[in-house]
Amino acid sequence: MSKVSTAVLGASGMVGQRFCEMLSDHPYFDTPVLFGSERSGGKSIAEVLTIPEPRISDELLGAKIRPLDMGEIADGNFGAVFSALPSGVASGVEMPLMEKGCRIFTNASSNRMRREVPLVVPEVNHEHLGMVEGREGFIVANGNCSSIGLAMGLKPLEPLGLERVEVTTMQALSGAGYPGVPSLDASSNVIPYIDGEEEKLGIEIPKMFGTLEGGGITPSPVEVSATCTRVPVRDGHMESVLVSLGKEVDADEVRRMFSSFTSLPQRLELPSAPARPVILAADIRRPQPILDVNAGEPARARGMAATVGRVRVSGRNVRFIILTHNTIRGAAGGSVLNAEILHSRGVL
Ligand SMILES: NC(=O)c1ccc[n+]([C@@H]2O[C@H](COP(=O)([O-])OP(=O)(O)OC[C@H]3O[C@@H](n4cnc5c(N)ncnc54)[C@H](OP(=O)(O)O)[C@@H]3O)[C@@H](O)[C@H]2O)c1
Repeated sequence: MSKVSTAVLGASGMVGQRFCEMLSDHPYFDTPVLFGSERSGGKSIAEVLTIPEPRISDELLGAKIRPLDMGEIADGNFGAVFSALPSGVASGVEMPLMEKGCRIFTNASSNRMRREVPLVVPEVNHEHLGMVEGREGFIVANGNCSSIGLAMGLKPLEPLGLERVEVTTMQALSGAGYPGVPSLDASSNVIPYIDGEEEKLGIEIPKMFGTLEGGGITPSPVEVSATCTRVPVRDGHMESVLVSLGKEVDADEVRRMFSSFTSLPQRLELPSAPARPVILAADIRRPQPILDVNAGEPARARGMAATVGRVRVSGRNVRFIILTHNTIRGAAGGSVLNAEILHSRGVL
């Protein structure tokens, strides 16, 4: 079977380079055509690399980035367009491209809460992808990187009833893109506020856990209260979570729910699906970004697993820590896994 043709918008950025990793030698998707701004236009990926230990094919490392051209993308007949554009740019690009028939998988926040755009974490709400089936052009959005990590931790507990969530995030520097937070602000420091982030968690989680009906999503009544901080970690968002459930539960049951959790991507054995989407750390000192950020097997799913630790239970309240790779599971990898699901359904 021939591979699906693809493009990456914002290919030179932190998320764009992860798209290059996830799409290197992909069994379903062809080597992407790369677009950036005028700044990176004409350069190769090798010339703009900023991620550590890149696992990018030689073909993609040498590929030249083109300045973003709406006409070229719309006329390119790409089977899938992966977007890592800043939201301010994406807002003027993605909807017009969708209206011209492009199938867009985006990480930008600008279109996430639109009624016709599903906000999908593959293991959490893959059924929301049903909204785009039968449509010529569409947008499938990823959530904010911290929303994705939190959703991965809440999903195994959903059968117990999710009532209220309090979360404090410790977000990595790469979450701010490149070059990101000024070094004098970041070094040996914690910044106790990230503009707009807490509100996103509060609205995105109810949409992800909502019900698909009448062509749109009815949000879940779960309440989410967030405090978002930036910490001097390169990659990996850690989150300290307190969730109030609909009924009492014991700690062993909660641990079993985390460690046995799988979903559709695992049943379909999709190329970027980690065998275990949630890994329960046995060591009380884990997870740690430096040790666990790249969790996930097989090799193509490196960075796609969330690691959970510090599980504590009291009555209906469960506390835990969760760590996810913000630019892989929280961005490029999530988009590629969504596209793999739609490919398996014959939509792409
Ligand atoms: N970083 C994360 O952890 C993360 C996680 C989830 C979602 N996101 C979202 O993903 C998107 C990308 O984030 P990032 O961290 O990769 O940001 P980034 O490192 O700043 O990269 C931005 C990319 O967009 C390109 N770009 C900027 N202005 C452009 C323009 N006017 N026309 C065309 N291309 C333009 C840049 O190209 P040049 O290099 O040529 O300037 C670069 O390739 C953002 O919407 C962000 O909110 C990020």
